[in-house]
Amino acid sequence: MQKTIVLGVSGGIAAFKAAQLTSDLIKKHYDVEVIMTKNATEFIAPLTFEALINHNVVVDTFEKVANRSIHHISLAKKADLFILVPASANVIAKVAHGIADDMLTTTFLACNKQKVICPAMNTQMYENPITQENLQRCKKLGYTILEPAVGHLACGDNGKGKLCDLTDILHYVDTYFQQNDSLKGKHVLITAGPTQEALDPVRYLTNHSSGKMGYSLAQAALDMGAEVTLISGPVQLTPPTGVHFYPVTTAMEMFEAVRTRSAQADFIIKAAAVGDYRPVHVSEQKIKKKGDHLQIEFVKNPDILAYLGEHKKPGQIICGFAMETQNLLANAQEKLEKKHCDMIVANDLHTEGAGFQSDTNIATILDRFQRIPCPKMSKYELGVTILEHMLTLCTQGEQ
Ligand code: PMT
Repeated sequence: MQKTIVLGVSGGIAAFKAAQLTSDLIKKHYDVEVIMTKNATEFIAPLTFEALINHNVVVDTFEKVANRSIHHISLAKKADLFILVPASANVIAKVAHGIADDMLTTTFLACNKQKVICPAMNTQMYENPITQENLQRCKKLGYTILEPAVGHLACGDNGKGKLCDLTDILHYVDTYFQQNDSLKGKHVLITAGPTQEALDPVRYLTNHSSGKMGYSLAQAALDMGAEVTLISGPVQLTPPTGVHFYPVTTAMEMFEAVRTRSAQADFIIKAAAVGDYRPVHVSEQKIKKKGDHLQIEFVKNPDILAYLGEHKKPGQIICGFAMETQNLLANAQEKLEKKHCDMIVANDLHTEGAGFQSDTNIATILDRFQRIPCPKMSKYELGVTILEHMLTLCTQGEQ
């Protein structure tokens, strides 16, 4: 399940760093909600956060938000973790004493999840015994304090009070949610995106795959501790940091890249939308416009998934995808059997929120014994679900 982090941004020069943190958390597939104090909006506009999280930032306690009647309560309930970043001396004093006089402090008080405070302020303010007492009080209340760093401060002073490193906050978050290590020691090979088959130097045949499904799977596998190889057709996405990345263009190139790396993989997931055919001849020159009809002869590409099914190594788990526009489950079942995979993820292109391009998918996982419906969820969440099911099949196979 995707985790929700509520970021409480209070007024301070380090408020701009909360925007970078938001972006980093989103990249790690956390769901982020942002609450700002009025003072924080003097340092950075809510619009910056809204562009990053793709929905409203809350500042006013009495602001009306669709479907959220008592917003501070709904946000408090939604949170899996509450982080105050930067936490000003004023906000620290308020949360230490249960003062709830704006949206941020009201939601903070209403939230019963883990709270993290990242102070950032002038050294004298930080070292002031009142602030120190407030921080001690917060610690006693069970809140985590990520200590500020020593450095050059915006006011010109050198000393303690600089917001801690964002990597420390990210590390805390990841550790807190125990980005689980269930795939530690496993090597996962994933294919993603479309293939392109050239007709001539200017034209090619392809499909609408964005690569989002495959790249989300790669990120999920990394987060679960796996070593990941990602073989991708041409897409506009940046490969997740840490994967072994092999870009390819044609189905033949993808076949070669997979064939030569498949033996080392424990899990293989074929999320790529591979072209079934390629032109027999690729014209060296641009094909000229002639007559009303143009005939191009195609030859079949190797079926990479079927090849993997036939050359399966002992203990290896192979997962295919079935992209259908009709008879979803019957066609997926046929592919499962014909291509000798352990499981197949069926998605229907005609269902809104599923298939190409979207950030979500709606699918059914089929294996030899069962069908598991996966309702609409992010492609990352589906990635985790798929990998967890592969792990179950792997464990069953070992017994
Ligand atoms: O990339 P996105 O925009 O996020 O979209 C995701 C997706 C719709 C592309 C993805 O979820 C998906 O369904 N991928 C499989 C697309 C596909 O080629 O389906 P298929 O039913 O035509 O093929 C069945 C399986 O055989 C697939 O695992 C495919 O990778 C594999 N195949 C197909 C042909 C071929 N020559 N070699 C193969 O390995």
